[in-house]
Amino acid sequence: MKKISFSKVDINKKDTKVISDILLSGWLTHGKYTTKFENSFKLFTKSKYSITVSNCTAGLHLIFLALGIKKNDEVIVPAMSHVASAHSASYTGAKVKFCDVNKVDGNINLDQIKKNISYKTKAVVVVHMAGSPVKDVKEISNYCRKKKIYLIEDCAHALGTKINSKHVGNFGDASSFSFYPTKQITTGEGGIVITNNYKIFEKIRRLKAFGINNDINKRKMPGKYDVLDLGFNYRMTDFQAALGYFQIKRYKSNLKKRRMNAKLYEKSLNGLKNVFFEKYNINNSYFIFQIFVDRDKRDQIVKKFQKLNIGCSIHYAKPINEYKFYKKDKTKKFDNAKFYADSNISLPTHSSLKPMEIELICKKIKELT
Ligand SMILES: Cc1ncc(COP(=O)(O)O)c(C=O)c1O
Repeated sequence: MKKISFSKVDINKKDTKVISDILLSGWLTHGKYTTKFENSFKLFTKSKYSITVSNCTAGLHLIFLALGIKKNDEVIVPAMSHVASAHSASYTGAKVKFCDVNKVDGNINLDQIKKNISYKTKAVVVVHMAGSPVKDVKEISNYCRKKKIYLIEDCAHALGTKINSKHVGNFGDASSFSFYPTKQITTGEGGIVITNNYKIFEKIRRLKAFGINNDINKRKMPGKYDVLDLGFNYRMTDFQAALGYFQIKRYKSNLKKRRMNAKLYEKSLNGLKNVFFEKYNINNSYFIFQIFVDRDKRDQIVKKFQKLNIGCSIHYAKPINEYKFYKKDKTKKFDNAKFYADSNISLPTHSSLKPMEIELICKKIKELT
C-alpha cells in the first residue's frame, strides 16, 4: 500500500532557491528575513510584538523568566500536554502543579484552575491541544487578571486557532508557537513568541540574545554593547526565518485544507459506536485530527497502521505527571488526562493529504473498531 504520511512540509522549489541564496550570501543570522517573518507573524495573529526563537520551549522559558517566575513560585500546567509545557516552567526552579483537563478536547478549564490555585500560584499555562481552542480562555484570562496571576498560552499546536475572531496567543500575557517539522508550518526547529506588552517584548528580545542591550543592526560601532541580563542564545537563523516567512504568507490556504480534511474525517466517522472525537469547529486549526477509541483497541490500531504505512501518532501517551521526572507525588491522578492518554490517536490533516487517503484511513478505522 502507498505510504500516507503523518505530516508533510509545505516547502517548494522557489523557497529552497531563496534559502540557498541566503546560505551562499554568508549572512546567516540577524538578517532581513527574521524581521520579515516576525512582521508577517504579527499581522497573521494580530499581535503587537513578536520575537523569533530557537524553538517553542525556549520561547516558553523566556516568557517565564521575563515574567519573573522563580524558585518556590507555583505554575499550574495541564497534565495532558507535551512535557515542554512543564519543563519550561521547571527551568526557573518554580514548582509545576498539574491539573486535569476536559475529556473531549484535552484542554484545561477555569474550574480546574480554581481548584488548584494557592497563594503561591504565579502563573497558569493553557495549551490549545491539537489546535482546539481553550473555550473559556477569556474567562480564564479575566480570572487570572483579577487574581494577579500571569497567563501563558502554549500555542505549539495552534497556528490559525481562533476564538471569536481573535487569534489565540493574544488572551494571556505572552505565548509561544512551535515550528517543529510536524507542525502547521516549519523552520526545522524554531518558535516565535507573541505578546501585546512592550515590557515583556523588550525583556524577551534581550534574553534571547545573551542579555545584550542593543540589536546588532542598530549598533553605531561593531562590538560595542553592554549586557544587562543573564541571557541565552535562543536565536533563530535567518534561513529558518525565511522558511517561516514563505509558509506564513500562504498559510491561509494550508489552513483551509486542514479544515476541509477535518470535515471529511467527521463526515466519514460520524455515528460510529466505538469512535469518539470533538465536533468539527471552524476555529480549530487542526494540527491533527484526534479520535478516541477503547484503550485496548488503541494500541492495536496504531500497530496496524504502522504495518499498513499509514502515518498516525499519539499526543500524548501519558499525562505529564506520570513521567518519572514528574512522578514525585504519586497520589495525584487525573482521570480525564489519563483517559485522553490511553485512548487518543492522532490522524494526519496536512494540506497534501488527498480525500481518497482520508477515506482509506476511515475505512481501516471502521474495520478495526
Ligand atoms: C504543546 C507543546 N508545547 C511545546 C512544545 C515544544 O515545542 P518545540 O519542539 O518547538 O520546542 C511542543 C512540541 O511539540 C508541544 O507539543
